[in-house]
Amino acid sequence: MCPVSERNWSLNVKTVRTIAELRLALEPAKARGDSLGLVPTMGALHEGHTSLFASSRAENGLTVATVFVNPAQFSDGDDLASYPDDLDHDVAIARAAGVDVLFAPPPAEIYPPGFATWIEPAGVALGLEGDHRPGHFRGVATVCVRLFGLVRPQRAYFGRKDAQQVAVVKQVVRDLQLDVEIRALPTVRAEDGVALSSRNVRLSEQQRIIARAIPAALSTRDAAAARAVLVAAGIEPEYVEVADLDGPTLAIAARVGSVRLIDNVLLEGAAR
Ligand code: PAJ
Repeated sequence: MCPVSERNWSLNVKTVRTIAELRLALEPAKARGDSLGLVPTMGALHEGHTSLFASSRAENGLTVATVFVNPAQFSDGDDLASYPDDLDHDVAIARAAGVDVLFAPPPAEIYPPGFATWIEPAGVALGLEGDHRPGHFRGVATVCVRLFGLVRPQRAYFGRKDAQQVAVVKQVVRDLQLDVEIRALPTVRAEDGVALSSRNVRLSEQQRIIARAIPAALSTRDAAAARAVLVAAGIEPEYVEVADLDGPTLAIAARVGSVRLIDNVLLEGAAR
């Protein structure tokens, strides 16, 4: 492993588009026996993502970030077409955050012609997002297993912002006995309390003010009270529910205009 000081000052991110290039980029670190940290993302990188990069850098010899807007986790009517897409911006952020390798594959690298094997999670994938976005966690679970197989990281980093997603990934890793440690990290928020999200750029100024009702609702730590806060702000939530997502969690999904936002708070104890 390089000395930490050296790594902190090396602002070189290697961007690779194919699996073959990825393998070459990882070879030296694997040969050295460095531990690998993986941070899967869909790009439009912000400080929520960079907090995951920082944790991975602190805990691993090499940090691999992926930027892949996974078509399999969007259903018709979802916002795949309008999902922000700016690889130059992502490369700049990844470089500044000290990511070593950025893997940004085209869809055919992940789902080549004839690809026909899917991970279908039940259990914690049922309810909440699972009810409102049919097929969503099938797409998430499949791409994560695919990325774990390609990178073979010791650790993979996820945000508690998507609490059900982390719980699903942990369940998949447990059920399939995959050799990767899943690290779940706290939600990063803007000064107004709104959780950072790639979708926030699509909120108008007025909608952004309305969106503050979501963290305000979570701060009541009670489903009925939270719903009342949202309704008073003119938001009709898709769900406001307490569920066991690595601990009792109050979770909200709501559209503000056409922008679908999710957020949650852990009601007691620390995430396991
Ligand atoms: P994406 O929405 O880009 O998020 C990538 C990772 O960043 C996820 O683990 C997410 O929980 C985390 N994240 C997003 N906003 C955050 C915030 N405000 N604070 C902390 N962490 C935050 O989630 C996905 O992509 C995809 O479903 C993916 C896991 C990459 C599979 O395609």
